[in-house]
Parts: sequence; structure tokens; C-alpha cells
Amino acid sequence: MKHLLSLESLPASEMRAILDRVAHFKSNRASHGRPLADQTWALIFSKSSTRTRVSFEVGIRELGGDVMFLSAGDIQLGRGEPIKDTARVLGRMIHGAVIRTYAQQDVEDFARYSGIPTVNALTDDEHPCQILTDIFTFEELRQEPITGKIVTFIGDAACNVPASWIFAAARLGFELRLAAPRAYWPSPELLRRAGAGPEADWTSHPGTVTERMQVGAGMVELIEDVRLAARKADVLYTDVWISMGKEAEAAQRIADLSGYQINAGLVALAKPGVLVMHCLPAYRGKEIDEETLEAHASTIFTEAENRLHTQKAILDWMVR
Ligand code: CP
Ligand code: NVA
Repeated sequence: MKHLLSLESLPASEMRAILDRVAHFKSNRASHGRPLADQTWALIFSKSSTRTRVSFEVGIRELGGDVMFLSAGDIQLGRGEPIKDTARVLGRMIHGAVIRTYAQQDVEDFARYSGIPTVNALTDDEHPCQILTDIFTFEELRQEPITGKIVTFIGDAACNVPASWIFAAARLGFELRLAAPRAYWPSPELLRRAGAGPEADWTSHPGTVTERMQVGAGMVELIEDVRLAARKADVLYTDVWISMGKEAEAAQRIADLSGYQINAGLVALAKPGVLVMHCLPAYRGKEIDEETLEAHASTIFTEAENRLHTQKAILDWMVR
């Protein structure tokens, strides 16, 4: 039984096995097989979604399956029924589940108690489907592996999206720079889980507020100076400053992160031909400006489209 609960728990060989099949689903959209024929899957979402919801609903149907969307607020889960009971009920009725929620533990518990293939469609800890799509998109557009390249993430480096990037860098061997104020850096505990050595072994550059460390097969750099982080990058990547569930901190976050915006000045420091990427939704004037988003719309909306093709590769891998 396969699950996709996190990139932390996905070995590099499995990551590659999924990524290697995305192009097949993209180029044979009308003619690929129906590995989910006679199956019913449920999407159980406690948070808003456009891309993840639609790409999974369309993807499951195009793979031959049936799909139901369950807003957590509409089922007894929203009234406090424990996830392990919901899981045991659904596990007797459906064939797979795609879950978007807050606690990572809930997705892990659902997988354990339901006994059916389970996908993490975003938790507070990780967004594995997004980062698999992003890596596919980089390699599709650049026609070369991401290994050895420089990906610079700008903004809230302590949220789910950069966490999944850290585990991807550790597995696939690229350099990940996280440009953020120190309070928005990922925890040392997360970095250790990804493969970093003890903090005493990190290379510090106090003048630029930088910490650099080997993490698995990759390098991770934590850096306050956003201009330094952008230098010679192959990818400039951002995400919202206010993740779902953090709305009460909105004013503080806008104040703290206001210098961490992708704009033309930053793009000019990166490698010529840099890919500007955004998982979306985008808040213009905050993590990216209007002009830069529109200048890179072709990349950003290809990235969004690729959610569909990647979800299919994930689902196909799960039921193999
Ligand atoms: N990027 C992403 O997951 O978008 P949604 O929140 O719209 O699903
Ligand atoms: N970090 C964001 C990602 C949205 C796709 C959030 O959790 O809201």
C-alpha cells in the first residue's frame, strides 16, 4: 500500500519514479490508461483550494475513477468526529483519499486507520504534490535535471512549501537558498530531520546573517539578505506571506516580510533566463509585484497546469 504523506518520507528513487511519468500523462492526456477504473476516491478538505482540488478531481476522473469532494465542515469530522473513526468508515467504502488539513498527524492517522492509499494535499507541515510539480516544471522548461542547480525561495521560509523544498533538495541534490528574516527560518529540528548535521557544523557568515549546511545530498542556505540569496539563482520561487491558518498574524507578517518580494530588481541579480515560480494564489504587491508576475505568467501558469499531470502520475504510482 503506497501513500504520499510527505516528501520527508519519500525516497529519491520513488520521487524520480513519479517525476518520470508526468510527461507521459501530459502528452497523452486523451489516450493514457485508466488505472483508477471502478474506484471511488474522496477529497477531504478543511482548507480552501483551487488548483489542488480541481487537478485531483479532474485527474481522478481522467484516470477512470469516480470522485467525491467532502468539505470537512459538511461531514461529522467538522463536528468533532475523530479522524481515526472517519478513516475507518471511509476505508470500508472508498478506494483512496486526498486530504488537505492543518495537522500532519491527521493525514498520517487517516492513512494508518483507513488502510487505503492516502495523499497529503497540504498540511501545515508540507505540500508534497506542489513541490513534485515544481521540480517537473523546472526540468520540463529547462530540459535538464534540477540536481546541482540553485533554487532561491523568498518569503516565509518556515511554512509548508519551503519545508517540502528542503526534503526535495536533500534527496535530489540541489542548492536551496531560503531568503527570510531569521524569525521565518525553518527550525533546526526540521533541518536535522532532513539530514543536516549539528548546528555547530553549519558554516556561519554573521556579516550577512547566513547559515550554510549540507542536508542529505543537497545544500541549504538560510539567509536574511534577499539580494545575496538571488544572486545567480536558477529559480526564484515564492509563496504567500500569510499561509492558511495564520490570518491572525497578517499585519505582523506583512511588516516583517515586506522586503522579501520578487520584483525586477531581484530578477536582475539571478541567472539570465531564471525561472520565476509561484505556487499560487498570488498576492500582488506583497510576495511578488504585478509586473514580474505578468512577465513570468507563462512559467507560473504552466506550473499550475502541471499540477494536473503530476497528480495523475502520483495517483498512478500509488495504485501500481
Ligand atoms: N498551490 C495550491 O496548492 O493552490 P490551491 O491552494 O488553490 O490548491
Ligand atoms: N503556504 C501556503 C500554500 C498555499 C498553496 C498555505 O499553506 O496557505
